[in-house]
Amino acid sequence: MKYFLILTFLVSSILFGCSAFKGLRKADLIEGKDKNTYESFGKKYMISTQGEATTKAARFVFEKGGNIFDAATAASFAISVERPHSTGIGGGGFMLIHHEKSNHKEAYDFREMAPRMAHKGMFLDANGKQIKEKSLTGPFASGTPGLVAGVLEVHKQYGKLPLEVVMEPAIKMAEMGFKIYPALEVATKAKAKKLCSYPSSKKIFLNEDCTARKAGTILYQKDLALTLRKIAKEGLSGFYEGDVAKKIVASQKKYKGLMTLKDLKNYKVKKREPVVGTYRGYKILSMPPPSSGGTHIVQILNILENFDLKGFGAQSAKSIHLTSSAMQIAFADRAEYMGDSDFKNVPVDTLISKKYAKRLANKIPHARALSSKDFPVSMSKIMREPEHTTHFTIMDGEGNVVTSTQTINGWFGSSLVAEGTGIVMNNEMDDFASHVGGVNLFGAIGGKNNLVEPRKRPLSSMSPTIVYNKEDKPFLALGTPSGTRILTCVMQTLLNVLEYDMGLWDAVAATRYHHQWKPEEIRIGPPFFDKDVEAELKAMGHKINHKALGCKIQAIMKNSDGNLHGVSDPREEGMSFGI
Ligand code: GLY
Repeated sequence: MKYFLILTFLVSSILFGCSAFKGLRKADLIEGKDKNTYESFGKKYMISTQGEATTKAARFVFEKGGNIFDAATAASFAISVERPHSTGIGGGGFMLIHHEKSNHKEAYDFREMAPRMAHKGMFLDANGKQIKEKSLTGPFASGTPGLVAGVLEVHKQYGKLPLEVVMEPAIKMAEMGFKIYPALEVATKAKAKKLCSYPSSKKIFLNEDCTARKAGTILYQKDLALTLRKIAKEGLSGFYEGDVAKKIVASQKKYKGLMTLKDLKNYKVKKREPVVGTYRGYKILSMPPPSSGGTHIVQILNILENFDLKGFGAQSAKSIHLTSSAMQIAFADRAEYMGDSDFKNVPVDTLISKKYAKRLANKIPHARALSSKDFPVSMSKIMREPEHTTHFTIMDGEGNVVTSTQTINGWFGSSLVAEGTGIVMNNEMDDFASHVGGVNLFGAIGGKNNLVEPRKRPLSSMSPTIVYNKEDKPFLALGTPSGTRILTCVMQTLLNVLEYDMGLWDAVAATRYHHQWKPEEIRIGPPFFDKDVEAELKAMGHKINHKALGCKIQAIMKNSDGNLHGVSDPREEGMSFGI
């Protein structure tokens, strides 16, 4: 009997992982990886990022006597080097911070801006048809990068070590190279043809015959190291003026792009008020427009507050049905209303109101999937999309928090490296709507508020988020890459903690799913749900698509005893470290 029990335990552990939640389906660690790399406990500080070298860069800065904002600066530049397919100084991002001493809660927006010469019809042909490739590859795909300006602004406000010190790990990594890891090889392979068409990109990322460099070989980014050195020495003007700026513009001109020196010089970081919501009494702060993330996370949670999800069970068909229906509704609203609030009137207050959520909750049938007929907005074809973007979260024992999502959009952005700089330029212009009803890389439908305009910021889903406990202190911070799935992955992790009382590891590793209105399906990531749960969902009329979501949550939780618990999503490279 004893052996039978042990055997049963072992079998169920292999199938479902050890968990306080019996039968919870959750992701396994990737082969050859150790759980201790992805999970850490500490008191003084905690770092969760998508790259081991990046986590080590932030640690190096703490060890040099830097504070959390120095560590975040180090992580931003290091991840730009370590994940050149996902993010970089040719891109942009958002950073949400909580500064305990001043009680500042600030959302830094360093999203790319459309060049001044950009215009509404620039991604359409003479017949008004979307020219898909133009917003994805080459010079027109790039918005004016904001990452350097944003990170330096936060560092100027709150950092205490010199830039030369905090940027040292990134510069060294670019100069001395690092071993290409499997996900970088996969991304390079997928983009090899496009990278090959630009000699400046080919020379860094490809072999002579334009094949991708293999995992295990060394990637050197010497030009990028020089650019980073310039930024470390000269600050903002090291990127936005002078030599580097001239080289960016020269490479744009060479391929007839629109970006000018004036666009670079006039790039503006925006400090915004975070979107604020509550769920079961917990305060949630997240990213406002031009991100759709925070608004829809709060909207979905508001809708779900009207149901007893915990009573139904975390991975029950009923909870999944209600949750994905709430996602579906939010994405229909996203298409209709969302855009850059500096340009358009975005009704955030209504979208996050409890009253509106209650009305929407009443619209969800309890045992039937909503269909396109339930929504007034027209349908469009859906595109295929890769994984991209990156996220890191850092907390310290004094109660400060930094959580930041950074990106060049698709893998290797526009595929164009600005000659002589090592900078991979973003393809964030694809996040604009080419026309009303147009679809982007992630299949998100574009509305009138998100059409291209000069100096406007494209709509995003990036959702760095902080949750406050009932004493109004930050206790959970998180975010993830992966396009439109960002907001639903963050929302589900919140739900796993706040509604289902899961520990952080389970909350991050649990099977995740996503509904974005179009396509009309629940996309479920591995290891999926039990067969009978999925059968029940199908019987309600849901279509199921088994496909990884690409989210890689980087989360930190402060326990009630003050200990910090870091988790880096076990689904890919990453590392949590704290002391
Ligand atoms: N580029 C993806 C996003 O901002 O959501």
